[in-house]
Formats: sequence, C-alpha cells, structure tokens
Amino acid sequence: MSENIESHSYDILIIGSGGAGLRAAIAAAEGGAKVAVLGKSLLGKAHTVMAEGGVAASLGNVDPDDGWETHFYDTMRSGHFINNYKTAEVFSKEAPQRVLELEQWGAVFDRTPEGKIMQRPFGAHTFRRLAHVGDRTGMELIRTLEQKILTTNVDVFQEITATKLFLDNGRIAGAVAYYREDGRFALFAAKAVVIATGGWGKLFKVTSNSWESTGDGAALAFRAGAELIDMEMVQFHPTGMVWPPGVRGILVTEGVRGEGGLLRNSEGERFMEKYDPQRMELSSRDVVARGIYKEAQAGRGTPHGGAWLDITHRGPEYIKRKLPGMYQQFMALADVDITKTPFEVGPTIHYTMGGLKVDAYSCATNVPGLFAAGECAAGLHGANRLGGNSLSDILVFGKRAGDGALEFIQGNEGMPRIDEGEVQAEIQRVLAPVGKEDGENPYAIHERLQEIMADHAGISRTGSDLEKGLELILELKERSRNMVAPGSRAFNPGWHTVQDVSNMITLSEAIVRGAIERKESRGAQWRLDFPDELEEFGKVNFVHKLEDGEVKTYTSPVPEMPKELQELFELGAAPGVAKSGKKE
Ligand code: FUM
Repeated sequence: MSENIESHSYDILIIGSGGAGLRAAIAAAEGGAKVAVLGKSLLGKAHTVMAEGGVAASLGNVDPDDGWETHFYDTMRSGHFINNYKTAEVFSKEAPQRVLELEQWGAVFDRTPEGKIMQRPFGAHTFRRLAHVGDRTGMELIRTLEQKILTTNVDVFQEITATKLFLDNGRIAGAVAYYREDGRFALFAAKAVVIATGGWGKLFKVTSNSWESTGDGAALAFRAGAELIDMEMVQFHPTGMVWPPGVRGILVTEGVRGEGGLLRNSEGERFMEKYDPQRMELSSRDVVARGIYKEAQAGRGTPHGGAWLDITHRGPEYIKRKLPGMYQQFMALADVDITKTPFEVGPTIHYTMGGLKVDAYSCATNVPGLFAAGECAAGLHGANRLGGNSLSDILVFGKRAGDGALEFIQGNEGMPRIDEGEVQAEIQRVLAPVGKEDGENPYAIHERLQEIMADHAGISRTGSDLEKGLELILELKERSRNMVAPGSRAFNPGWHTVQDVSNMITLSEAIVRGAIERKESRGAQWRLDFPDELEEFGKVNFVHKLEDGEVKTYTSPVPEMPKELQELFELGAAPGVAKSGKKE
C-alpha cells in the first residue's frame, strides 16, 4: 500500500544539524538559495559540543610567531602525511577568518589580558593555538551558529532521520526521511545535498560520542555511489572517564593537559617520558593513547585500567575557572573533586578521520550535486587528528560545502526528478521491521557489532584479528537483514536502531577492510604484526566503493605536495621555531 507523504522542494538540502551543517546552511542561504536542514536530534544538541577544549586557528594572539604555515605543518605531521595537502592548506589559511567571524556573530571567547581571544596549548600544536571558552568551546560554537541560523532564511526540520538519497541520471535529486516522533515520512527534492552528519563512534562501546554518531550520512552517500577513504583511521582520544562503569568513555578534555595536567602510572611515574620525552602529555593523541594503554597492559595502570591525570597543582580557583565543565562532570558523575585529587582516565573512541572522499576546495563528492563536510568527510586529518582541528574543520569546510553546493546549482538549475516508485519502495523497506516480533533484536546486533570492533579492530590490531573481525561482521550483516522492531512506528527507538545499525555495519566493514590492507603502523592504525611506518604506504590512501552491493577496496595515490610546501618539512623544525626548539 503506498503512503501519502509530505513533500518539500529546496535548492539545497543539508543533512545534519551540527556545526558543519549549520555553517553550510548559512553560506548557502546567504548566497540566495532556498535551504533546509534536517537534524536527527534537536537543534543545538549536536556532537560538536564534544570538542570542548578549543578551536585551532593560528591567530597568533598568545604566540605571535604562529602562522598558517606552522598550523599546516602540524596538521600534516600529525596526519602522518596521508592527508590531502590541499585540504590542509586551505584549512590552515582560512581557520583564523572563520574563528573571527564567529566572534562577530556573538561567540564569547576567553580573553587575554589585552582583550584578544585567548589561546591555549594542545597536543602536537607547536604554538598555543586553541581559542576557547573554558572547556565548553563546542557548545559555544553551536550556540552561536544556532543563533545565526535563527536570523537567516533557513528551514530547520528537527528529530528527522534521512534513510535514502535519490539520483536522477546520476545527479543527486533529494532524500526521503521520517519524523522520529511518529514515523511520518517526508520527501525532500533538492538540486544539491550536503552531508554533514558527523562520525560513527557509536560502533564502539567505549566512546565519547553520543547516540547520534552512527554514520548515517556517510552510509547513505556510500550507497548512492560516493567513495569512502581512510576508513581504517579511527581516533582514540587518550582521556575518557574510566570509572564508574556507567560513565566509561565520557570525554575528559585535552584542555586538562593543555592547562598543565600531568599523567602518571600506578608507580607515580610520568610515563610519557618514555613515549615522547619532548612533548610529554602534549604529544599527539595516537601516541598518548598508546602510552596509557601500554602502561595498563604492563600492569602499571590505575585500579580500573587507565592512568592518573593530575591538575591539582593549578589550584581550585584556576581549575574551576578554566575547566568548569570537568570540575562539575567529575563531582556529579564520579564523586571526585579534581581540584583535590588525581583522577582516572583511559582511551576512548572520539573521532573518525576517514569518511567521504571530497574535493579539497568545493567539498564535492564524486556524485554530481552531493557534497560533504565535517567529520563525515575525509582528507584533512589523515592518520590522526589534532585536537581542536575538528572545530575549525567544520567552520572552514562547512562554509566551503555551502558555497560549493551554491555554485553547483547555479550551473545546474533545473530541479531533478525523483521516481515515485523508488520512494515508495524505500518507505516499504524502512517500514518492513515495524510491528514484527520474530527476528533479530537491533540492540543485540548493535552490542555484538561493538564487541566485534573492540575485539578485532581496536587500539592495537593484527592481520588475523582483523580477518576474523571481517568474517564476523559479514555474518552479522546477514543476521541484520532480519532485524525487527515490535510495536508501532510512533516513539519506537528499536526501529530507529534498525536504521542506525545497518549504517554502522556498512561503515565497520570499510574500516576493517582498510585496516587489513594497510599493512603498517601509522597514526591511529597500530598493527602489532607490522609495527613500523612504511614508505610505500605513505603514498596511498585506501578508497572504498560499493559495487553490486559489495564493498570493494582500492588504493589511490596521496596527492603530492608542491616543492614550496615540501620545503616546510625540510627545515628541521616547525616554521617559526629555531632548530634549538626555541622560537626564532
Ligand atoms: O579534548 C577535547 O576537548 C576535544 C577536542 C577535539 O576533539 O577537538
């Protein structure tokens, strides 16, 4: 039986209402397009809030020697040179402008004594570069963008899940979605679509990510023909909460270490001395996360398998002013006063460096009219992301994706056609599990997927573990075809989980396939059977395509840097820093 559904028509449809989606919407609407934003959650409740410690941009307010070249240098080095240099160059050049614009729109940053935006140190950034609002920077960013959206001509649809993108002769034509409240469907015809749905941390159990991070947009775009790249690169943030069990994985901002927090093992040793004696606690995330993990494996962990983080030497007034969220979080959730005592932390899945392969300038995917920005897109971070680069990423490339979509529709004016039969078939597919009792429980499938990913594709990996993991994921994929959601389509979280789990299984398969092919250790990919970083793998990215319903994996050459950028890395020290390690 065919459904009568709500129908809308827009120039540009943005799927995702976090920082990247809102910034794209502002750019597109200011360019004169009719724009809609679809958000799976409520406006303002985005994973963007989980980048707490700051937004990275070489404003040079605290360290005047900072500049785009040093930010570029740090970003490429930290990504172990499989990043797209073009993306990193555009990013480092434009980040300061995007932060200043945010300030003009009302973001209330912490201040230097002279009244400039305050910047703090963060892991593997050469200079103090993170503009921040205490430890609530992501929240302030979203608040500011939300306020701006309310005065821009954009239609926002909240608590709505997109399930399929449609094409007209290979060009994007729109999407179908359902309201999570009552299961009503709506069709959104559009001349261009921007995917900005964030990452997929929820395919791991211990994660800083909230329920929204299930990779919907990336999976939808992949099924529509877009390519995925660098999927094997999944970031463990070194410091999540480890105790009590109910809060395991919740983020402990890198801002704690930025403000001087020290890591110690159970023997009181500042163990980062062994892993990165120069940068210590402010080494890159992959190195610090591995350091904590190795200490725990060697029997020098805390009672619950992490490390001690200590900021008490900063004193209560300073801690409560610079890290108010952390103070409250530990008081409320763990009954621990971080101004008085060290606290336990351990690695938690925080970010996915891989994602949709996009053009560095326009954020276009290989599907005409389909764009992507933010965590669901890839290229900027390579094998490891620097803290604070996620917030500047969503600002720089959110705007670029909005502008890219705008330019596309200016050259492709007609409204593409969506086949009514395809829409009805999709609605029937999505509704099929509703009301059924006999079949697979989507929560159980999700839990099993999380176990498989933790056991076979976690912080340390081997070829045989990954191969076994792939076999188990493929078995789970078969089982997942029979997921059921008893009850009606109104207020039915089991039904939403069916969609989420299907998307996460698709992305897990790409992660594991990429990790199998990358027979080396590089950034977040730590292969026990291939412990070294190998030159040949520094020249390739792994790209995944869906061919006849199967995930196929190929290599693609890493774009080669022009000579003038290569020279930055031949200096022997970051630009702005003398070889002695001191500023010039
Ligand atoms: O630790 C943090 O505050 C996280 C920041 C980020 O992921 O960029």
